[in-house]
Amino acid sequence: VIKTIGTCDEIRDLVLKMRGQGETVGLVPTMGALHEGHLSLVRESIASCDHTVISIFVNPTQFGPSEDLAKYPRTLDSDLAMLNEVAKDYAKTFPIVFAPNEVEMYPEGYSTSVDPPAVAAPLEGVFRPGHFRGVTTVVLKLFAAVPANTAYFGLKDYQQFRVIQAMTQDLNLGLRIHACPTVRESDGLAMSSRNRYLSPEDRVRALSLSQALSAAQKLLDQGIRCPIEIMDCIRQTLSVVDQVDYAAIVDSDTLQPVEEISSEAVALIAARVGGTRLIDNRVLRVK
Ligand code: PAF
Repeated sequence: VIKTIGTCDEIRDLVLKMRGQGETVGLVPTMGALHEGHLSLVRESIASCDHTVISIFVNPTQFGPSEDLAKYPRTLDSDLAMLNEVAKDYAKTFPIVFAPNEVEMYPEGYSTSVDPPAVAAPLEGVFRPGHFRGVTTVVLKLFAAVPANTAYFGLKDYQQFRVIQAMTQDLNLGLRIHACPTVRESDGLAMSSRNRYLSPEDRVRALSLSQALSAAQKLLDQGIRCPIEIMDCIRQTLSVVDQVDYAAIVDSDTLQPVEEISSEAVALIAARVGGTRLIDNRVLRVK
């Protein structure tokens, strides 16, 4: 069965011992409430590394004062059960769960944080000020506690992936950042721990995000390269949601606006449906 470790010192000692024996370690950072998206990262890590560590920590510093920290789902027992099931498919050592408590990660007097890279400024950076500072800080702490060879992140949080990639490069952290594709429900809804907040009626309206992104790729396939024209269609499809925080087509590396889509760009959406804030994105490619 899965071993759970709660302190940074214990997990670091264990991982350093593995690394010292020439074995590779993969890290899958999560906030728990695991779904198939997380499990796809775990499978990728187990398949590619000798050992896999899954961190489960609901990081308070990445939530704004009016956000859903208090009600964010905490489902450690079912998370562990899901990980046990996944691990059975592999003839390897069981993954290890690193589940520190808040005091372990942020002891009294804690005051250092990581100033996030430029790619953190637009989009989520505008609507969730301070969010990426919380993310870069906790992710750097997780990288220090779990000195892995590779860390796995989902492309559902596209901007987060770019932020962590830039931080890793800028600060010479020396581990590999591996991005895995967004996992979707059969009707297209991107998997998210927040989908459980959606009422049946909201669940239907939530489909407009993935539908808008598919429509955007279709227009590109028809030869339309102008982001303004594609954005009109995205906005129309999104008219059923309660609020669009942003919908944008930007450069897939810098997340800065593009005037024309030459080979690829990324379309990103953040929208509110009922009381739930959802995000989704799609890399648009000229075929
Ligand atoms: O993507 C998440 O679940 C979180 O932002 C992360 C990377 C685990 C940091 O708390």
